[in-house]
Amino acid sequence: MQWWSRNQSEQSHIDALRRQVFALFSAEFQRLLSGMSSAPFNVPSSSSDHNAEPEADAGIEQTRRTLLLGALATTACLGCSPPARAGEDPPGSDERPQKGDVLVFSEGDQEGKLITAADVKVGGPPLHAWPKDPNTSVVRSASRLNEILIIKLDPADLDEKTRARAVDGIIAYSAICSHAGCPVTAWVKSDVGDKEMFKCMCHNSEFDPRAGAQVVFGPAPRRLAALPLALADGSLSVAGNFLGKVGGTQPG
Ligand code: FES
Repeated sequence: MQWWSRNQSEQSHIDALRRQVFALFSAEFQRLLSGMSSAPFNVPSSSSDHNAEPEADAGIEQTRRTLLLGALATTACLGCSPPARAGEDPPGSDERPQKGDVLVFSEGDQEGKLITAADVKVGGPPLHAWPKDPNTSVVRSASRLNEILIIKLDPADLDEKTRARAVDGIIAYSAICSHAGCPVTAWVKSDVGDKEMFKCMCHNSEFDPRAGAQVVFGPAPRRLAALPLALADGSLSVAGNFLGKVGGTQPG
């Protein structure tokens, strides 16, 4: 299995452990709170010989809980510490797509699998992809700005510039909205026409992939960056750098 897949698996395992530790911590914290709220508030008595033993027991129990809670809190904090992703990401995984990179699915049950031209169906929906260095097998998934939308459309529907860039009707764009940087996730009928468009659900911006992903609706200030593709023997690859700025222009 590739390094990237192992890393994903290990990360999932760490996340599961973290959730278990957090659940244990929460349960004990709740138990402590309920115990404290239901326990009588003992006012020290001047003649409490027969109360001395219960008070001593209560003190021991309180100490035990405090120590246990402290240990759990320490463990939970360790579990909640962000993973050292920066140190684990392989070199090149946060670089922008490079000429010659191949493309792999970034989501779904085929995640990590190579995308070929046959995987891209005419008319959408778009596939979500990461670029991958074919020489090192490094998937460039360490930066969310590298996620790509790949779609195939009837070349007759494309404007001149977009058609010139398309390979057998297949075109690619950045999956990051130019408004506030949300991922563009939807392929839906436009609010301002009959055709389907890329849509960012954060603030409803729509982009027309037939026309260079220009904005047709919503607050996005500019089109999605385009990514030139090449096609050889059914294999898709990156043909050049992103055309245009990648990412949002303002905080969400
Ligand atoms: S981030 Fe996409 S419309 Fe605002």
